[in-house]
Amino acid sequence: MIVCLRRVLYLTADELREKYIKFFILKDHVQIQGKSLVPDNDPTVLFTTAGMHPLVPFLLGEKHPSGKRLVDFQKCIRTGDIDSVGDASHLTFFEMLGNWSLGDYFKDEAIKMSYEFLTSPQWLNIPAEKLGVTVFEGENDIPRDDESADVWKSLGITRISYLPREDNWWGPAGTTGPCGPDSEMFYYMGDAPCSHDCKPGCSCGKWLEIWNDVFMQYNKNAAGNYVPLERKCVDTGMGIERTVTVLTGKASVYDTEIFTPIIRAIEAACGCKYGEQEDIDRSIRILADHIRSSVFILGDPKAVTPSNVGAGYVLRRLIRRSVRHGRKLTNEGLKLSQIAQVVIDRFRGPYPELEENRSVIVNELDKEQAKFMETIQKGEHEFEKLLPNLLKDPRRIMSGRLAFKLYDTYGFPIELTEELAAEQGMKVNREEFDEAFRKHQELSRSQTGSFKGGLEDQGEMAVKYHTATHLLHQALKIVLGEHIAQKGSNITAERLRFDFSHDSPMTGEQIKKVEGIVNEKIRKNYPVHTETMSIEEAKSSGAIALFGEKYESQVKVYTIGASASDFFSKEVCGGPHVEKTGCLGVFTIQKEQSSSAGVRRIRAVLGV
Ligand code: ALA
Repeated sequence: MIVCLRRVLYLTADELREKYIKFFILKDHVQIQGKSLVPDNDPTVLFTTAGMHPLVPFLLGEKHPSGKRLVDFQKCIRTGDIDSVGDASHLTFFEMLGNWSLGDYFKDEAIKMSYEFLTSPQWLNIPAEKLGVTVFEGENDIPRDDESADVWKSLGITRISYLPREDNWWGPAGTTGPCGPDSEMFYYMGDAPCSHDCKPGCSCGKWLEIWNDVFMQYNKNAAGNYVPLERKCVDTGMGIERTVTVLTGKASVYDTEIFTPIIRAIEAACGCKYGEQEDIDRSIRILADHIRSSVFILGDPKAVTPSNVGAGYVLRRLIRRSVRHGRKLTNEGLKLSQIAQVVIDRFRGPYPELEENRSVIVNELDKEQAKFMETIQKGEHEFEKLLPNLLKDPRRIMSGRLAFKLYDTYGFPIELTEELAAEQGMKVNREEFDEAFRKHQELSRSQTGSFKGGLEDQGEMAVKYHTATHLLHQALKIVLGEHIAQKGSNITAERLRFDFSHDSPMTGEQIKKVEGIVNEKIRKNYPVHTETMSIEEAKSSGAIALFGEKYESQVKVYTIGASASDFFSKEVCGGPHVEKTGCLGVFTIQKEQSSSAGVRRIRAVLGV
């Protein structure tokens, strides 16, 4: 039983950054400069996603000019969860603190230094009883990491969990590269464990990861083999935003001093108040995050500007999304560059490139905002021209094809068409729009070749994941019970994510069973059928439909099984899906965790 009361430290991001660097310099590390947000010579990623990224050649054996012990802070961008930005914790930009051993110290010294920095009164002064750690449980030829666990035990840490690859292995950002087991450090936010087996890594939401020590001892080669590295290395990562949030006892990263001046500036510019109304808060958080990311991308020495491909496309999406949310907060819209000035002021100390590029940042933001506003005005004008005809439809539904035309011809975003339609008491046929959009994307992809990491990846893999989601949904009902209901779904070309109502974590055995059922249905190479019927007919024929969802009067129903009457899964859905399940490959659940109260989240992948 943990009895100590919550202890809240006062710590700013600047203080944390300074303390960390100073501590490791005292431990004979050399401070190196963080690198650009756009990685050199790495076509597998659009942005630097972790502090180790620029150091990959040195982790693989190349000599670093600054020596074998390094420390730095690195700006990072991760856009995989961009749709979740707006909640209390997700960010697209963050700063990572890291210390490295390039063939110098290994587990023993790395863990002892981490412990000292976290607990020593001179440094973070965290009571040891608030800490817990996880270590790798082992897999096949790679043994359980007792070495790390023994070091932690020798320091007096008793809460140690042994977890599998999904949790305690750091792999390369691409498919090959340096990797190895890791040991993660958690801060306990509660006063008592959630259950008798509540331990570090438990998904109850009380254990918050603040630091990760990775023990790089293998190189994963193109054949998928783990070749031991001649020179073992250590790579660590501490997220500044998250650590400051946890240690200062805040509920959200947006409540820390890191974001306060940005949020105040947004409030002042739009005449609204943060912390009073959920939808307003969401827009404010999206603006704060996206403008901060845009400032860092535009202020980067690599000088990315908005475009329709690669990193420039991500930037364009961040800016346009900000413009849209600015318009939600105030009719006149919010001048992004005005908020950007505050972001530059806030971060120009550790990142002087922002000050150097202030005018570029401001000009590019103004230019992109003006361009997008023009698009919006044109789209609004076209919409008005269509209106008399649209109003003749007694069902008050605007066709998805027409909405797509506005998008395709004028770049008018579907969300804005939906807003304008709603003002006239109309709905847009979103299913039809999505179908047209997907076809268009496939066409342009086959013409131009695909690019990785786009935000609206609706290619072949996404379609496969869509079908796999139906199989998963039904398998969960079989293994866990009929109460399982979908609470959310998010698909990219790399993975599926599925949220569903269920009260407790799934056991390893349940996860295996679900995987087994899905893989069996894939192997059977079942055909996927589609029919159109009324929503009442669909429900009475046993099709899964989302509770509380508003459906059109006629819906598409997808069945997966030997025939349309002898089916395994039947769901109301807009599609698209594969024709036969055999092409899906091998289904693996990578993670099962809590998403919110009473809702679990599964992340799964399809492989060969
Ligand atoms: N590369 C490791 C991480 O990002 C330290 O968690």
